[in-house]
Parts: sequence; C-alpha cells; structure tokens
Amino acid sequence: MSKEDNLKENWKKDFPYKKQESTQVSRRDFAKFLTLVSGGLMVGSGLVAAKAYLLPNEGVIGEHFVCDVKDIPIGGTKGFVIEGSTIPYILVHLESGMFRAYEQKCTHLSCAVYYKPGTGIIHCPCHDGSFDALTGDVIAGPPPRALPQLEVFLKGEKIFVRALENRES
Ligand code: FES
Repeated sequence: MSKEDNLKENWKKDFPYKKQESTQVSRRDFAKFLTLVSGGLMVGSGLVAAKAYLLPNEGVIGEHFVCDVKDIPIGGTKGFVIEGSTIPYILVHLESGMFRAYEQKCTHLSCAVYYKPGTGIIHCPCHDGSFDALTGDVIAGPPPRALPQLEVFLKGEKIFVRALENRES
C-alpha cells in the first residue's frame, strides 16, 4: 500500500462519515431549528410589547424655548428635541406666517418627515405619506393617524412649545 493510500485509509477511520450523510439535515434537527427561531421571535416580540406598556411615554411637560423668530424664515423649518426626551420634533414656519410643531416621526413606520416649502404638505419619503402642515392630518399614503402636535406660542420674538391640551397619547 502506498503512502497516499495509507493516509486515505487512516483518514476514513478517523472520520467515519460519508459525505452525503454529513450534509443531510434530519427532521429532528430541522424541528429544533424552527423551535429555536420561533422561540426567539416570540421572546423578542414580548420584550417590545413589554417596553411599550411598562415604560412611561415621553410626554412634554411645561413650556420649552425653541428658537428666535428671526432664526426660521417663512417656509423654513427647524428640528429640535426637548430636554430630557429623545423624540425629534420639527417646527414649521408656514407661508401664512403661522408656526406649527410636530413629531418628526411618521405615524406609519417612524421615518423622518420633512416640510415641502410652498406646498403646505409635510411629506414622508418612505412610502409617500403626506400630512397637512396646518393640522397634521393625513392627506395621502399609508400613515394611520395625524402627526402628534405641540402647541406653538410666542413670547415677544421667542418661539416656545408646550403640550397641546387635548393631545392624545
Ligand atoms: S413610514 Fe411614512 S409613509 Fe411609511
């Protein structure tokens, strides 16, 4: 027996599996895999649901300064976050001269929305959702509800926001 044949024989003794057997997945292994994956998904969904119910909402309390009137031209916007919160907001200076402030997260799948100057529309680029910039109401697309809104008010030349009295959340 040549040295090469001898090596092959020894290798077969050490690894007594046939190639086909080693790549086969048994029903039992497949069932174990499916159980593990579904279990992981179930636990993940449970954690997300628990977080939504157990952690308090980041409600806006009190009034908050955003910027000076001169900092936001007509048709312009300013993004801001209220101290102690992580929710992004957008302040819009409408062409009518009014100010509006909304959460900058689309109510569909939370993409960032932006104001289209001169249109009166706040747009979501992810699935072409549109909101009325004056009211926050849905105009088109898949968003299920209006953009959450803050009340905007002025003190002299300074712009402030606070929670809307009748705000749902
Ligand atoms: S995330 Fe805004 S329309 Fe889908």
